Amino acid sequence: MTIDLGKDDLIVAVIGAGAMGRGIAQVCAQAGIQTLLYDARDGAVAEAIAALGKGLDGQVAKGRMSDDDKAGVMQRLKPMASLADAASAGLVIEAIVEDLAVKRDLFRTLEKHLSPDAVIATNTSSLSVTEIAAGCDRPQRVGGLHFFNPPPVMKLVEVIGGLRSDPALADALVAFSRRIGKQPIVATDTPGFVVNHAGRAYGPEALRIVAQGIAAPFEVDTLMKEAAGFRMGPFELLDLVGGDVTHAVMESIYDRYYGEPMYQPSALMAVRVAGGLLGRKTKQGFYDYASAPVASAPTIAAAPQAKPASVWIADEDGGSDLAAALKAAGIKAELGGTPGAQQVCIVTPLGEDCTTTALRLKLDPARTVAVDMFGRSMAQSLGRYTVMKNPLTAPDALGAAYAALAATGSPVTAINDSTGFVVQRLLAMIVNVGCRIAELRVAKPADIDTGVELGLNYPKGPLALGDLVGPARVLAVLDGMQAATRDPKYRATAWLRRRASLSVSLHTPD
Ligand SMILES: NC(=O)c1ccc[n+]([C@@H]2O[C@H](COP(=O)([O-])OP(=O)(O)OC[C@H]3O[C@@H](n4cnc5c(N)ncnc54)[C@H](O)[C@@H]3O)[C@@H](O)[C@H]2O)c1
Repeated sequence: MTIDLGKDDLIVAVIGAGAMGRGIAQVCAQAGIQTLLYDARDGAVAEAIAALGKGLDGQVAKGRMSDDDKAGVMQRLKPMASLADAASAGLVIEAIVEDLAVKRDLFRTLEKHLSPDAVIATNTSSLSVTEIAAGCDRPQRVGGLHFFNPPPVMKLVEVIGGLRSDPALADALVAFSRRIGKQPIVATDTPGFVVNHAGRAYGPEALRIVAQGIAAPFEVDTLMKEAAGFRMGPFELLDLVGGDVTHAVMESIYDRYYGEPMYQPSALMAVRVAGGLLGRKTKQGFYDYASAPVASAPTIAAAPQAKPASVWIADEDGGSDLAAALKAAGIKAELGGTPGAQQVCIVTPLGEDCTTTALRLKLDPARTVAVDMFGRSMAQSLGRYTVMKNPLTAPDALGAAYAALAATGSPVTAINDSTGFVVQRLLAMIVNVGCRIAELRVAKPADIDTGVELGLNYPKGPLALGDLVGPARVLAVLDGMQAATRDPKYRATAWLRRRASLSVSLHTPD
């Protein structure tokens, strides 16, 4: 069966004129397509069209759109009085309430009005496209077109074929997405598709770090921005999206993958949601938005100290790079060998905590600190260092290491002992979840990266991030974390282990 959504006279009907529906209708009308808009609530369509017109006035005022173009968009946008008005549509995009029974009801009604070759696409975030289509007479004409909020700004669209969708449907929806100026990726009908699935690493692992008292939310955010190059820290993101929304997605993905430990939601978040600390919308989240910003106290205030004349550095992963940086700052850095009796010992573990590394290398724990060199391979410009103490590290040893790192000109964050510091833990989880998405054949490796870059605004997709720091190093972090914690959520996927063992890119297909 051919499915053609490329005709000049294609009519699109958008059902649901809320946050998503009105944006999707705007995108279609701006692409020159006759667009109909419907909502079950009286007055909702008129409100949406008025709000949309106001938004376009803003574009005209800023010189981003001409008066004529605005008039064209408004003229192509028509309200529907009832669902029967969808009869002329070749494509219906559904963006109503996220409720399976209500969506199924709507689809059944729509099928009565539409021509048999019309396509219905759902914008669902968390329901199964196949399950929605199962209530239809023509499930082969039902698929998913998952837009991101706000649709006029976000370039990405996930295209999903249901199990009973016509094989040609995904291709037709891909071509349609391009026609309206979007970047499509194709995902299988699995929980969270690509983007909401890939997003289950950053927030939950950051919450575990805070719950374990390793670092405060603002410190985790600062490290992810200044040591790993992310545009937003995980707690800024949680506050922006809303704790209630994020926690519901965490629970849904965990449940729909039948308790996969990798996606375990956070008990810390559950209490915050119950208490109404939802983020920006309640003016209180991990940050306080009601009052002027107050500087938060660091988890560990390293005692100010003069920089040491010399330090000893373990000759392990990243050790020689750190020695070179300290030498350039005028500090004698001895790499390997036996440390002097009073020297501060710096270790640079991968997937190991400071305690374990000190004992493994037979160092005095009181004089040992750890520095994370993992994220530094990502970009030269990422300066912030993490210095990590163990429970016995003496304050003067920590202060001296802190001063040595600060002498390089880079800022420093001090944290409590953690297998995998902060940056290693978060990056390794992001990469491993990305590898799981590849392993489960949810999408092609290149599409996984595109989806995450455009949908989550990470500096790179998870597979590209893994390639940048090195698959074998990511594997070392995860194996270390799993060995230390005996927690299956840190077990590496076979996709990652195979490619790391073969020393090939994480994009390598089977
Ligand atoms: N908000 C997001 O960030 C986002 C992102 C991607 C996908 N989605 C999905 O898009 C859909 C809509 O989300 P939203 O945020 O726009 O919700 P919303 O609450 O802003 O809008 C939903 C609209 O649907 C209308 N509606 C409800 N039942 C209806 C029915 N039976 N027939 C016609 N209209 C009906 C409501 O009156 C409302 O105007 C959901 O499936 C959601 O999961 C949301």
